[in-house]
This record gives sequence, C-alpha cells and structure tokens, in this order.
Amino acid sequence: MCGIFGCVSKKGNVAPLIHAALKRLEYRGYDSVGEATIHEGKIQIKKDQGKIDDVHRMLNLDDLSGSIGVGHTRWATHGAPRPLGLPSWTNAHPHTDCNSEIAVVHNGIIDNFLELKAELENLGHEFRSKTDTEVIPHLIEENLKKGATVVEAVRDTVKRLDGSYAIAVLTSHVPERIICARNESPLVLGIGEEAVYCASDIPAFLPLTNKTVILENGELAVIQADRYEIRKIDDWKRVLREPEVIEWTAEMAEKQGYPHFMLKEIHEQPTCLRNTLRPQDLYLDLIATFLDRAGEVFLVAAGTSYHSCLAASYMFSDLAFLATHPVIASEFVEQQGMAVNINSTILAVSQSGETSDTLAAVDHARNHAATILGLTNVVGSTLTRVSRVYTVQQSGPEIGVAATKTFTSQLSVLAQLALRVAKLRGKVGHRQIEELEEKITQIPDIVEKTIERNDERAQRIAKKYKDSKVFFFLGRGISSATALEGRLKLMEIAYVPSIAYPAGESKHGPISLVEPGFPVVFICPRDETHKTIIGNIMEMKARGASIISVIEEGDEDIKNLSDEYFEVPGRLPEPLTPIAFVAPLQLLAYYTAVQRGCNPDMPRNLAKSVTVK
Ligand code: AGP
Repeated sequence: MCGIFGCVSKKGNVAPLIHAALKRLEYRGYDSVGEATIHEGKIQIKKDQGKIDDVHRMLNLDDLSGSIGVGHTRWATHGAPRPLGLPSWTNAHPHTDCNSEIAVVHNGIIDNFLELKAELENLGHEFRSKTDTEVIPHLIEENLKKGATVVEAVRDTVKRLDGSYAIAVLTSHVPERIICARNESPLVLGIGEEAVYCASDIPAFLPLTNKTVILENGELAVIQADRYEIRKIDDWKRVLREPEVIEWTAEMAEKQGYPHFMLKEIHEQPTCLRNTLRPQDLYLDLIATFLDRAGEVFLVAAGTSYHSCLAASYMFSDLAFLATHPVIASEFVEQQGMAVNINSTILAVSQSGETSDTLAAVDHARNHAATILGLTNVVGSTLTRVSRVYTVQQSGPEIGVAATKTFTSQLSVLAQLALRVAKLRGKVGHRQIEELEEKITQIPDIVEKTIERNDERAQRIAKKYKDSKVFFFLGRGISSATALEGRLKLMEIAYVPSIAYPAGESKHGPISLVEPGFPVVFICPRDETHKTIIGNIMEMKARGASIISVIEEGDEDIKNLSDEYFEVPGRLPEPLTPIAFVAPLQLLAYYTAVQRGCNPDMPRNLAKSVTVK
C-alpha cells in the first residue's frame, strides 16, 4: 500500500517533481519516504522514516540533481520503520544492490523473499534492511553478472518473484531509462510533453499530464524522456498501447481551500451524486440483466464498500424481490468458496478497484466459472479488467483515506441498479418506479442541504463528546448499514472505539455496556422501523445513555427523546435513506478527529487502497 513514482525528463532536476508527486501519493502510506536520482553517472539517495514534510524539513527532498529519478512513500509490511538497533532509514525505499548502481522502489509483498535472500547471501550479497524489497536490486545485480542487459536482468528478476509488485528500477548502467513492471499492484504511465512518468496512481502526475497508459499484470515498461515501450514479461512480446486521456483535472486532486481532503470530499458529494445520475445505461442494463438471471448473487467488498453492499442487499430485496448475499471480501473464500459455481454471479464493489481481498475473492469465483460484475471509481483498475461487465461511479479522485463521496456514489448507483432489476422483473408498479426515480434525482439537493444544515451542529456535538471512551451506532433495516459506516468513520480517523449493530440486537448483549452519559447514535428515518426504534431509544435512555439521533426534518417524537440530533430535510423512501443519513455521521467523525488533534486525511496505520492481503 505504498506509493511509487518515477520520472525521466528532457531537462532540469526532477527531485522537486518527485517530492511533489509523493505528496500527492501520501494517502497510500506515510511511514517513511525516499527518492533517488542519477547525477554524473552516480545514483544519489535521500530517505528516512517519517512523514514527507518531516523528512523534507530534515533532508530537503528537492535538493538532488539529475533529470531522472524514482521516489517512494511507504506503508510498512516488512521491517518496522524503526527496527531494533538499526538506523531508521534502513527499511525506507529506495533499496540498492551491493555497489549502489541499482535503486528500486516497490509497492507490494514478495512472498518468497526469504529463500531468494538466502540464495543471494550464499552468493556473497550483503543485505542492509529487513525488507522483502531489497532482494530485487540484488537479483538484478546477479543477472547482470550473468551477462544480461539491464532490461533482461529486470525481466529475469521479476520472473523469480512470487507475490505482488509494482517496481521502478533506476540504474547507473542505463542512466537515461527507468524500467518498471507490475504484478497485481497498480502501475500507470503518464505521458507528458517534457517527460514520461510511472506511478502507483494517476493523481501523482495529474498536474503534469492527463495522458495515461495503464500497465497490465505481467507487463514491463521501459520509459525514456520522450517514449515508452511495453512488453509482456512471459513471452517478451511487444505491447502497443496508446495513451488514454483521463477526464480528471489536477484541481480535482487538490484541497481547494478546505483544511482537509476529507471535508472537501464530504462537500463534493452533491456533485458526485449528480454525476451518478448520468449513468452508463448500456452497462447498468447489462449488469441488471445478469443480476436478474443469476442463480445466486454475492455482493463482495471490503470496508466502506462492504457497507454499500450490505445496504444494497436491502435495496435489491425491497425493490426487486431479489435475494443477495453481502459478503466481506476477506471472508468470501472461507464462507462461500465451496458454494460458488457457474450459476453464481459476483457483484464486486471497490472504489479503488485494487483492493487485494476483493480481487482475491473475484479470482476464486472466476476459477469456479462464476460471472463477475464490477462497480468501481477507477477506470482501468484491475477490477475493470477482471469483470465481465463493470460500471464506473464517477466520483473523481478520492484522496482522503476515509471513503466518503465514493460511499454515497456507490449507494446511488446500486439503488439505480436495483430499480432496473425491479423493472426487468415487473415486481414494482410503474408509478412507484417513477416516484423512486424522481426521488433519486432529488438526492443530490437533499444531501447538499443535509451537509449545510448539520455542519455547525456536528462541530458542536463533536466538541461535546470528543473525550467519550466509546460510541454506539444503532439502526434498523437498511439503517444498520448506515450505522456500520458511521462507526467505521469515527474509528478510523478519530480513533474512538465504537460499536455498531442492528438496534434489535441491543438486548441480546451489548446493552450491558451502557452507563450514564454513554453516547448512542440512532439512525432513524421515518420508515417501517420508526416505531420499533423508538422502543430501542427508550431502552437506552432508561440506562442513562446520551441519545444522538439522525432524524427526518420535523420528527418531533424522536427529537424530544434526543439529547442531540441531526436533521435530514425531506422524506426519502427507505432504500435511499443511507445516502443522506450518513452525511451527518461523516461530519461528526471529521470534526471529532480534528477536535482530538488527529489528521483526518492520514489516519495512523491506514492507507487508501489496501493492495496486500
Ligand atoms: C474506508 O474509509 C476505508 N478507507 C476502507 O475501509 C476502504 O473502504 C476499503 O479498504 C475498501 O476499499 P475499496 O473500496 O477501494 O475496495
């Protein structure tokens, strides 16, 4: 879950470019940072443990000469950032060979690194770090000794690697080229007027060019200042692939005056939701047809995307009378692996399209002849290439590690899918379908008003409860998915231990935790569950809990029972409520994080796209 970047420029020093690109990739990992350039035929490196700004203050990452270079921002999988007794920079990338003539940055995990390391140590190689990555420059060095060219040496090296990798190799042997390759971990090229770039993600070079070339699994590319060449690693066949122009602008990947990307992205939701109302009809209809005809449907995803799947299972049942199984991706193989077959259809949901757990579940299902459908936010991501049919949710780049706008956009697309399946099945009357379609078009405005109306309130409530030891989030029906998402946001960015479950479960155990003043958040749209949830609120109040409710405008019954409340203007049909009711919970989490002095954009121990299992 690191971010790698490489750049070959026609002129000038690339170090400031690399530094800036790593800043734009920092959401992928921020344990340590490093860069290398070639100047006067020599590789020079700056790296250390810590966030980019801190390391830059110490080392000045802009101050390296050379018009070719690579960089890395890290999320540690092997070798602690500060291993016992070893200098802190040791495990930071780039890693080099014995003679510092080869420097490698890597994103992924090399499963067979221990045996490769032992083999290389027997050949006299000396290792400086505890990382898996360091075997790569030593293997390249070994292949060069056998007479291979640099490109062949990299090819033969990656052929020996088991696991996931996106690498960029810089070497003084060919000081005008960078060799990069990928297997599982994402890698894209950026084709500029004055330079060519390789990076883990498009935002890295977006201010420089929006012309991109996606590298597929098992491909290697050689980039120079004015050209690039791609080959298949296995059969070394040349691959001709023209650049694609990405509609994203550099501004879309910047904060635009907001203190954090997360707050900017919360406020971008109305625009993103309007984008989802211009769907790719052909693909949505195709996906709806597959779902309608499926023997059984599994909705598979991780984290926030799983919460979209859980909410979608209520939408498909409610609107289309279609039973679906929402499954947490990392449990799919264990839980459903043996049941999947040619009659199974998997709808995989992943904003990044690169989450390893979700791709592993998809891989397993494909090997059992299941049909794969995809919903993602990134054109060209791996999920789009393993799906029979996919659709893109058009939320634009999401930089904040905590998913916000991508969650509500997923829900809007999934609701539209459920409506299309309902139409196909003729289960719902035309008038009801028209009403729902009308409501879906009103959602962007309702979410806009919800954010405006509750922003200050969220700041005040966050301040009031910022030192709470634990939080409860409760909802019934589809709101149990909203509760789970509210909890995940508060936990992942404000580090507040939180519990969420369907409100009906309270009396089966968790209520024993409740003490006077205990903050309990209730999500209470005025749907069929409204009456019952009032009972649950009374149960909690009877034990002195402090009730924070998310209600529909004018819901006096619950307002009078609440110590604090958020209001959603307008009435929404049940299947659509999570799209609006989650917004106050996103704001509560954001302001609680800020009040507790946490950085909402870069929560500790997390990274934006989880590309390791
Ligand atoms: C959510 O805020 C987290 N960033 C995380 O749970 C995320 O939703 C999960 O890793 C899935 O990511 P994906 O949608 O890119 O597959």
